[in-house]
Amino acid sequence: MSYKVKLYKQGEVTEHTVEEGQNLLQLIQDNDVEISAPCGGHGTCGKCKVEVKNDGHVTSCLYEVHKDIDVVLPEELEMRILSSQYELTKTVWTNPGKSADLAPLPYGLAVDIGTTTMAFYIVNLLFGTVVDVKTTINPQSKFGADVISRINYGAENKEGVKNLQSILVKSINKTINEYCEESGIAFDDFVKVSIVGNTTMLHNFMGVDALPIAHAPFTPVFTEVKKIKAKEIGVKIHEEGEVVLSPSKSGYVGADIVAGMASLDTDKIGKKYLFIDIGTNGEMALVTPNKIIACATAAGPAFEGANISQGMSATNGAIAKFSSNGYEVIGNVEPTGICGSGLIDIVANMIDIELLGMEGNISEDFIITNPNTSEKTNVSLTQQDIREIQLAKSAIASGINRMMAIAEVDVSDLDNIYLAGGFGNYINIESAIRIGLLPDVALEKYVQIGNTAGTGAVLALKSEGFMMEQEELIKKMEYIELSTDDEFTMEFAMNMFF
Ligand code: FES
Repeated sequence: MSYKVKLYKQGEVTEHTVEEGQNLLQLIQDNDVEISAPCGGHGTCGKCKVEVKNDGHVTSCLYEVHKDIDVVLPEELEMRILSSQYELTKTVWTNPGKSADLAPLPYGLAVDIGTTTMAFYIVNLLFGTVVDVKTTINPQSKFGADVISRINYGAENKEGVKNLQSILVKSINKTINEYCEESGIAFDDFVKVSIVGNTTMLHNFMGVDALPIAHAPFTPVFTEVKKIKAKEIGVKIHEEGEVVLSPSKSGYVGADIVAGMASLDTDKIGKKYLFIDIGTNGEMALVTPNKIIACATAAGPAFEGANISQGMSATNGAIAKFSSNGYEVIGNVEPTGICGSGLIDIVANMIDIELLGMEGNISEDFIITNPNTSEKTNVSLTQQDIREIQLAKSAIASGINRMMAIAEVDVSDLDNIYLAGGFGNYINIESAIRIGLLPDVALEKYVQIGNTAGTGAVLALKSEGFMMEQEELIKKMEYIELSTDDEFTMEFAMNMFF
């Protein structure tokens, strides 16, 4: 038995014939429609809701088609994605290598593949200048919010690893195409692509099964620099153009951290500092004149809103800032949820007004009220949400504490704390200190340094020498595996308190 399914999306309708029992989320995804599915279709996050006419709002991953239906898909949301680079970036000579000889006016594309978002930098390789920047949501998000759900998707589906790769390649080709159309240059003027990302994203891009990264001892299949012909992987640039991947340190300290750290100008930064990139994994390093220690903690996707009942990514409708003086909602619309930076502010505020004690217990859901009008919103935080935040903040704080203890460095010895990436850029540092996520040091020591991974990708595109600098950095790094560190377990329990 087959049925007709009509998908309505922003004024357009497509019609599909499906077999009895067709999974609705699957159908939506197969038709290249972006839909939030942070739990990867396991029915646990409740974020993949769509409206089925006459049936109301349904969880699409749990919905099977047993009749003709009309489905109204959610509007596409503009996501706040950080692509900016920062003034602490080192200067490198433009020396992109032989591929630059392939075109009279060669262009390159630097790509930062984040788990949630992707940033693309189009670079004129003759002058080494960034001529355009584009961003998008990582299309793999439909397979799950975090790296583990992507890895599981790859492992559980016959064509999974291939799909994870092709969807990234498609996104890169689309960006190149768009730029060619806008600027009038030809696709074979692009001669080089540089990729950074966390270790799982790099495995996905290379079409390599990342399953070993998901299980102890979390050993990646590769960490080294990769140089391949673009055509081998389906990236549509010049026939002889190349793709280069920056190196990673371990399964959870990826090329995004390595490239980001290597991009900093050592003459402009402190001598003893923390470098922290908070995402679903908190990747971090402690740098001292004698050693560099790096680690990663599984913070979970709470700060990206994925396992928070009304959590959402930094898109329209998300409460992104909150204080007793008011709140800010992305897009200046009615609030429909809370993104990571808003969550931290709200919890900090709950501590300030003594609604939340040390243990994080609440007697009832905390309904967000507009502090200006005292009107209640439809957004609230539950006890379970608070627990998720405690787990996430404790993971990061405990990772920081362990690195400091191992290196015998006290927080008062730190010259700076650099916060890299989108989340680190948007959070209110005072709130983050208040909830115990970040160390309590003078605010002026904190520097929000923007998307250093993207900056690193640009430098790796422009300069072959920068690749070697990244390799040198990796040699100096000492990686600590926190999942087998007993002291970390104790720290983790202690840092659960507010
Ligand atoms: S509940 Fe459907 S994707 Fe999470």
